[in-house]
Amino acid sequence: MRDILPPESAQWNRVEHIAREVFKAYGFGEIRLPIFERARLFERSVGGETEIVSKELHMWIDSPRTNEALRQARNALVHEGWTDEQKVGEAHKRLIESINSGFFDSMGEVPRIVLRPEATASVCRAYIEHGMHTRPGNTKLYYIGPMFRRERPQKGRYRQFYQIGAEVLGQSDAPAIDAELVEMLLHFFARIGLDGCTLYYNSIGCRECRPKYVAALKAALEKVKDRLGPDSQRRIETNPLRVLDSKVESEQAVIETLPRITDHLCAACREHLAALKQQFALRGIEGTENWRLVRGLDYYTRTTFEITAPGLGSQNAVCGGGRYDGLVELLGGPPTKGIGFAIGTDRVMLSLAETGRLADTAACDVFVTWMGAAAQAHAIRLARKLRDTGFRVEVPAEEMKFRKSLDLANRLGARYALIIGENEIAAGRYALKRLADAVQKELTEGELLEFLKGDRAIG
Ligand code: HAM
Repeated sequence: MRDILPPESAQWNRVEHIAREVFKAYGFGEIRLPIFERARLFERSVGGETEIVSKELHMWIDSPRTNEALRQARNALVHEGWTDEQKVGEAHKRLIESINSGFFDSMGEVPRIVLRPEATASVCRAYIEHGMHTRPGNTKLYYIGPMFRRERPQKGRYRQFYQIGAEVLGQSDAPAIDAELVEMLLHFFARIGLDGCTLYYNSIGCRECRPKYVAALKAALEKVKDRLGPDSQRRIETNPLRVLDSKVESEQAVIETLPRITDHLCAACREHLAALKQQFALRGIEGTENWRLVRGLDYYTRTTFEITAPGLGSQNAVCGGGRYDGLVELLGGPPTKGIGFAIGTDRVMLSLAETGRLADTAACDVFVTWMGAAAQAHAIRLARKLRDTGFRVEVPAEEMKFRKSLDLANRLGARYALIIGENEIAAGRYALKRLADAVQKELTEGELLEFLKGDRAIG
């Protein structure tokens, strides 16, 4: 986890603001979801065997009984000479032991709560909970917020990371929906200035054809098992498709010889993929078909896609998504088609920084330098006017020496210093100094406001 500080946070706001604008133009509305959900939601949707659910969930048992048991365990430690910190640690250890020895057995289902590792499952849960299938047309939702996965931290991979995601739910699985969603994504990346993105897509079939393909893949993998590393060997049993994701150098040649899903799609899935390509062409979308793009979540059917961006090393996927027809039904809702994506905001910000595409976000447009009580009154009034017009204005809270005040303005990265002293007040003209080249103008209040408004580089 990490903190995001100004001025970097301004960059994040800019990107999120553009996402809101672009998504709105495509008819999406924002959904604000809870940060934690029941563990079962993700076990049933993302899948109990996936890495995200089996290894990476931040989970706890949320029950008054847990708190009571912890309190009792702590009290029992009072006389054993522990420090406070040790007491808490030891109490937790003892609680885990009592859970393991059947503490919750009389309660039925243990109330396990997780910090959400993704939001598609939450959107589907909300769709069912609020009967959104009765709304006219497709339900188009977007969300912006933190997700949590206990991964090994590295560049572009955090335990708390941020996603900007969108989902389309409804009765239709028309490939034009898939293509329009990708069009929106690419439009968003273009608007924020993320250059050099590559779109990869695939179809991973449906409930009809995928099991047959997975069986064929598994059989083929068994034959080459001894040429694969321990992770891939394990996945042959748990989730054979994930072997295709392997980045292990020595496995690449073997993987290239494996059966490809594209050759095993049923007629309906083949048609869907062909129509998707036509829809891409209609929109001028160029992508690369990649038969190995299977994605790490169980709910996908047919279309899957990922977008990579430069400057990120091995964690170069800035967006992943795909179709999940039937997921709403699986979670107890009506038969529903669905497709969506999630953008990894942390990685987008990293890529923008690495490729020199961060926007100019000066923290301050105008630094007001005032000297004397009369000047402070002018400074306060002018600052309010400028701030009303959207300029970022700093007014020192205490009178400063002229040199010191200019020095601070420079260090804050201000574009202009507005100088107000006795002479300026007497003359009815303020001095506006452009700090980059020290060019100075004497302006009346009206001229000053006009000049700054006309300076289109700022505000
Ligand atoms: P995902 O591929 O697991 O898909 O995550 C989407 C994006 O989130 C990734 O491409 C990456 O940019 C970012 N991301 C994932 N894990 C981390 C991490 N530990 N640190 C930083 N960034 C990360 C999903 O989450 C699906 N819910 C997407 C979706 C929506 N499919 C359909 N609808």
